[in-house]
Amino acid sequence: MTRAAVLAGLGGWVPPRVVTNDELGRELDTSDAWIHSRTGIRRRHVVDPGTATSDLAVEAARRALASAGTDRVDLIVLATSTPDHPCPATAPAVADRLGLNGVAAFDVAAVCSGFVYALAAASAMIGQGLAGRALVIGADTFSTILDPADRTTRAIFGDGAGAVVLRAGDDREPGAVLGFDLGSDGQHSDLITVAAGGSRQPATAGPVEDAARYFRMRGKEVFFNAVLRMSESAQTLLRTVGWNPEEIDRFVAHQANIRILYAVADQLGLDRRTVVANLDRVGNTVAASIPLALQDAACRGDLVPGQRVVLTGFGGGLTWGSAAIRWPDIAVEPLPTIHPDLNHSN
Ligand code: UT7
Repeated sequence: MTRAAVLAGLGGWVPPRVVTNDELGRELDTSDAWIHSRTGIRRRHVVDPGTATSDLAVEAARRALASAGTDRVDLIVLATSTPDHPCPATAPAVADRLGLNGVAAFDVAAVCSGFVYALAAASAMIGQGLAGRALVIGADTFSTILDPADRTTRAIFGDGAGAVVLRAGDDREPGAVLGFDLGSDGQHSDLITVAAGGSRQPATAGPVEDAARYFRMRGKEVFFNAVLRMSESAQTLLRTVGWNPEEIDRFVAHQANIRILYAVADQLGLDRRTVVANLDRVGNTVAASIPLALQDAACRGDLVPGQRVVLTGFGGGLTWGSAAIRWPDIAVEPLPTIHPDLNHSN
């Protein structure tokens, strides 16, 4: 028996405002037919001006704490690439708003792999006795950094937050986080970028400079690397934890594109029915993507105690990561901001 982090609670949040593919089609040269056939996405949620990443993170965290039946943690790790400010980190402000001022709190920036990296950091800290209970949050507001004229990125990304509570336990318990694989490839850092706003190119005001503060993605190359790296990472994880592909009950991967999810499942030899997908309703929510997919599946009864669950993320950096969990018996609330009539329409 080894000390391990155990999943004890799960919650999510998306902002109420929905943008459908048809709405994007009225503004840009795109259509529901193109977006849905190329990505699987039907709609996404976006923040109103003035709503920041921490606002979403706090909502998701409150729901994860309620799911875990606690209001206390001693560590908060927030995965985000759209912090409230470039400096300081957003996690301490989230801790304060949760009434947890004083706890250890820091941000992790690994774009769409951020949640798996944050989960690994918190699990390792629990394993080492640095924390007894932790909140791991993935939250992003990519709508605030998208180029309004870029039909490709506007079609894909949405805003949201997802959170889990981890507690110290042992590796034989349901919910135990059993292993990780993490990796990066900085040679391809130019495939996903925001040029300005860092030390290489400080942010400046003005219309010309605005273009440099927007998120840019070389979609086709990212697609290729996503399939390759997610497949490799999941395979490495399976070897680490000693699971065969056919033993995986649920594959919960970063919700970038349904074609990527199926391509990775095929590479791994998984039945496509193990693939968990909520991207039709929320799009690609970056660091929130995996916990929001977990939240959605748990609410639908698609994740049940004892199942072998593999999480796999991939994103800018490039970065990737996978984690293995035996699903625990936890109560998860549905997202109040997703209208039930809009669910599962495709
Ligand atoms: O979250 C981090 C990881 N991100 C990802 O994993 C995203 C990976 N990439 C993708 O999912 C896909 O590459 C996209 C969905 C971004 C693009 O799909 P694609 O099938 O690779 O399209 P493409 O980039 O090859 O573009 C094909 C055509 C182009 O037009 P031309 O040059 O053939 O005339 C694009 O300009 O589709 C055009 N296009 C669009 N047309 C209508 C690109 N975006 C759109 C759009 N609506 N929204």
